[in-house]
Amino acid sequence: MKKRVFSGMRPTGRLHLGNYLGALENWVLMQEEYDCIFGIVDYHALTSEYRNVESVHESVFQIAVDWLASGLDPEKSILMIQSMVPEHAELHLLLSMIVPTPWLERVPTYKEQMEQLRDKDLSTYGFLGYPLLQAADILIYKADLVPVGEDQVAHIELSREVARRFNNFYGTVFPEPEAKLTQSPRLPGTDGRKMSKSYGNEIQLSEDPKQIQKKIMTMITDPARKRRTDPGNPEVCPVFDYHKIFTESAGRDWVVQGCSTAGIGCSDCKEMLLKGMLPVIEPLHEKRMKLERSPSDVKEILVEGTGKASRIAKQTMQEVRQAMKLDYSAEGW
Ligand code: TRP
Ligand code: SF4
Repeated sequence: MKKRVFSGMRPTGRLHLGNYLGALENWVLMQEEYDCIFGIVDYHALTSEYRNVESVHESVFQIAVDWLASGLDPEKSILMIQSMVPEHAELHLLLSMIVPTPWLERVPTYKEQMEQLRDKDLSTYGFLGYPLLQAADILIYKADLVPVGEDQVAHIELSREVARRFNNFYGTVFPEPEAKLTQSPRLPGTDGRKMSKSYGNEIQLSEDPKQIQKKIMTMITDPARKRRTDPGNPEVCPVFDYHKIFTESAGRDWVVQGCSTAGIGCSDCKEMLLKGMLPVIEPLHEKRMKLERSPSDVKEILVEGTGKASRIAKQTMQEVRQAMKLDYSAEGW
């Protein structure tokens, strides 16, 4: 039996290069080894984007396109939309009966996100329950492994604690899921800060390679290297973070040598980077355009995947209802 994997992404915009290198590339590989379910978690998007439902709706489609273009394969994995399987919400509700609120209040992302997204009112019931909804996503498929970044580890830990508490109270239904840490390479935005939509410094997967080229050519470099004749330090230059991902070692040596002696200029360096980057981006972009031209195919893939997910979720809910004595439709009531 293959191990079951579940992971999700929130549809709050198109995916950027960091999402691809950090998570997606890894998911694509996991498809070969595990029984994978990947969810576009639109309920989760609503916890912060409840005023922007239009944008959440549009992002669901765009993320599906990003996923397929990146190599998630509906023949190998289940690709689904969370809100189309309302059992996620039902399980979330039932788990909310047994989770002590301090467990949720002490999750580090709760206070952090509240601080960071000050322009949004996150003092909602749904936002507090975010990690519990995530636990429901994972537990409803009895996932063994959850590929996530470091920032999500506390959420997986909560899922384990909730599973344990449920099993103690009502009998064992859920396995305890484990986080499978994804190392994401450091990929700063074009201004050198963390790549993020709110900074407007993203490189999206859906961008035209020409556009990406332009962004790289105008990207911030070592701020101490003001003139062509000033030597630079690649270790403090965001462009060099990209070289670490896209350029092989001989090319990187050439950059280090040339930069630190002012032997090369920043545009030489960036052109070199593009030689490694464009062959990764161009095929992705082409696949993406093809998919965007046949939206009904993309939608069908999601509907079909969601149907498969729904069958598993319904089965688990039957067990949950039985365990919690909520099975009034059963024989013998
Ligand atoms: N919270 C996750 C994130 O922000 C998204 C997510 C929702 C998720 N449900 C999930 C990830 C279940 C893994 C498993 O990235
Ligand atoms: Fe950065 Fe390259 Fe310019 Fe050096 S040469 S400062 S590594 S862009």
